[in-house]
Amino acid sequence: MILAIETSCDETAAAVVDRAGVLRSSVVSSQAELHAPYGGVVPVVASGRHLELTVPVVGSALSEAGATLDDLDSVAVTSGPGLIGALLVGVAAAKALAFSRRLPLIAVDHLHGHIASLYLAPRPLEPPFLCLLASGGHTLLAEVDDRRGYRVIGSTLDDAAGEAFDKGARLLGLGYPGGALLEAAAQGGDPEAFDLPVSMLGRPGHDLSFSGLKTALLYAVQAVADVDGRRADLAASYQRAIVRTLVGRTMEALAATGLRTLAVVGGVAANGALRGAFADACARDGIELALAPLALCSDNAAMIASAARFTDPIPYPAYLDLDAHSSRVA
Ligand code: KG4
Ligand code: ZN
Repeated sequence: MILAIETSCDETAAAVVDRAGVLRSSVVSSQAELHAPYGGVVPVVASGRHLELTVPVVGSALSEAGATLDDLDSVAVTSGPGLIGALLVGVAAAKALAFSRRLPLIAVDHLHGHIASLYLAPRPLEPPFLCLLASGGHTLLAEVDDRRGYRVIGSTLDDAAGEAFDKGARLLGLGYPGGALLEAAAQGGDPEAFDLPVSMLGRPGHDLSFSGLKTALLYAVQAVADVDGRRADLAASYQRAIVRTLVGRTMEALAATGLRTLAVVGGVAANGALRGAFADACARDGIELALAPLALCSDNAAMIASAARFTDPIPYPAYLDLDAHSSRVA
């Protein structure tokens, strides 16, 4: 069995997956409430909380799996990208656990982890496919030919899609984290009430952009006399613009690459309007669609354990000088 630890942002998570890819346990302790008063993740607060939570969360993941350290054949950990101080807590804990048992360590790329949320039993997704990864920190399109990796063909030039949801939610006075709150606020709103820009459609390449949309929402909010009365319409129109950008650019990339299978992963993949829009577009174009399970959209360690199955382990004790990295490498 593989024990995985994920501490790249504000979720402290641990999970156990067996060699056949069956998820035995997945424990996520979210710090969202701790950061809510600040309107976003405070890195130093996140690191401190990871320090307190990592050991109990690992303990819960082992006991829920009915496993002990003796049952593990390796320890996996997210080594980047993410908040450096937060990552270091997970990396240090994973090194200590692996070293104490003379086990190998598997350093997992967080984005590979999101993609691998679709590789767990009983229906692991088979490459080749195109993957849209839309989270709070990253938004990119990648070609996946092999479960061991991915190749980025386009990414956001400015804000991530989740960041756009979070900033829009803040402009609408909805609180943090904003994605799910904005989705709830959009219920019953008219998505055509405000004409907000859908960027990049038809442009060469596969990059995306969301910062103009956020500015357009700011102007729309300023121009409306009764924001409280129009909040649902504003939220629905804003959500629709993000969804149309994501779906439009992704369908263009499918046409350009000739790939016939699409995977959608990351925190924003939990959005119901986005899931529905992809279901419609893929049905229309005859594309096979794999949406990350809701429980595995936001950050978790099950996806890290899943990616670890397709990542080379670092033998004992060579990983002692493994470092965390804050930026994307692939
Ligand atoms: O993947 P994730 O947990 O963390 C990163 O790796 O960044 O993604 C978090 C992002 C946040 O920006 C959050 O607002 C967004 O995912 N999110 C959503 C929804 N649930 C979470 N965005 C839109 N609709 C949702 N229902
Ligand atoms: Zn993530």
